[in-house]
Amino acid sequence: MSFVEYSDLIRDGDVAIVYLGHESMMHVKVKQGAQTQTRYGVIRHSSDLIGRRYGSKVTCSKGGWVYVLHPTPELWTVTLPHRTQILYTTDIATITMMLELKPGCVVCESGTGSGSLSHAILRSVAPTGHLHTVEFHQQRAEKAAEEFKEHGVDGLVTVRNQDVCKDGFGVSGVADAVFLDIPSPWEAVRHAKAAMKRQGPEDVRGVGRGGLRGDQHPGGPAEGPRRADRLPAAARLRRRPLRSDRRRRCRPHRDQASDPRRLEDHHPAQRDARSHGVPDLRLQTQDLKSSGF
Ligand SMILES: C[S@@+](CC[C@H](N)C(=O)[O-])C[C@H]1O[C@@H](n2cnc3c(N)ncnc32)[C@H](O)[C@@H]1O
Repeated sequence: MSFVEYSDLIRDGDVAIVYLGHESMMHVKVKQGAQTQTRYGVIRHSSDLIGRRYGSKVTCSKGGWVYVLHPTPELWTVTLPHRTQILYTTDIATITMMLELKPGCVVCESGTGSGSLSHAILRSVAPTGHLHTVEFHQQRAEKAAEEFKEHGVDGLVTVRNQDVCKDGFGVSGVADAVFLDIPSPWEAVRHAKAAMKRQGPEDVRGVGRGGLRGDQHPGGPAEGPRRADRLPAAARLRRRPLRSDRRRRCRPHRDQASDPRRLEDHHPAQRDARSHGVPDLRLQTQDLKSSGF
């Protein structure tokens, strides 16, 4: 069993999801001889789980039944043990889409927290990508590393126990995307920039538009005229104004119209990102929402 590959049969050592109802699921570590209590009675791992197909309907000792599902990042998000606040699937979907994650991408994230986002990133970048995840809380970092191993994804991820604001991601010039879910992301912007992939002579890393995606740093004004013909399609598309930008330009809010600062200048992360030459920082989802995204 691995969170990034599907297997047909439940095996000893797997992590399986017991589905009692849409609002009620739990994960179990499948172990020969072990039992799991549910409100419908006991599930005996040796006879009820091991060797059965994922998706099977299993009858518990009191006669009620449950489904036993293959784990996915989405099911893990709703059943994981919370060590921190976590990101949920709706926000994770937006994040993975905006970062344009795909197999082979190298991603840096901090903090690891409970690993909810990490699992989704891992599935997106598998089988050839890598996640560098940084968490300064030692027990959280250790627990995440342990779970990645149990979930068969440890080969795709490096967990570092350090302060991302002081020590960065532990890698430089490799990342296609960076995501920060920490209380003060602006303090890690220079490390985010250092972690990004370096581009060709015209595409100076971190200077042009494109925020924290390594393949979207066309040369900014300081680098002379932009070479649209040499940019990947995604970067060319990205330079068009967002619909929200257009709306803001056409119908400014009354307060904004009289305020010489633009809406996004109100957020310290945006100001700091700009002073580091990263004008389009992808903020935490909460910040994106509050800044009118
Ligand atoms: C909100 S949680 C992240 C949740 C995670 N995205 C998830 O979906 O499970 C924030 C985490 O960042 C960690 N953190 C905060 N500041 C940090 C820093 N400067 N360096 C590394 N980790 C940090 C905290 O210990 C906490 O575990």
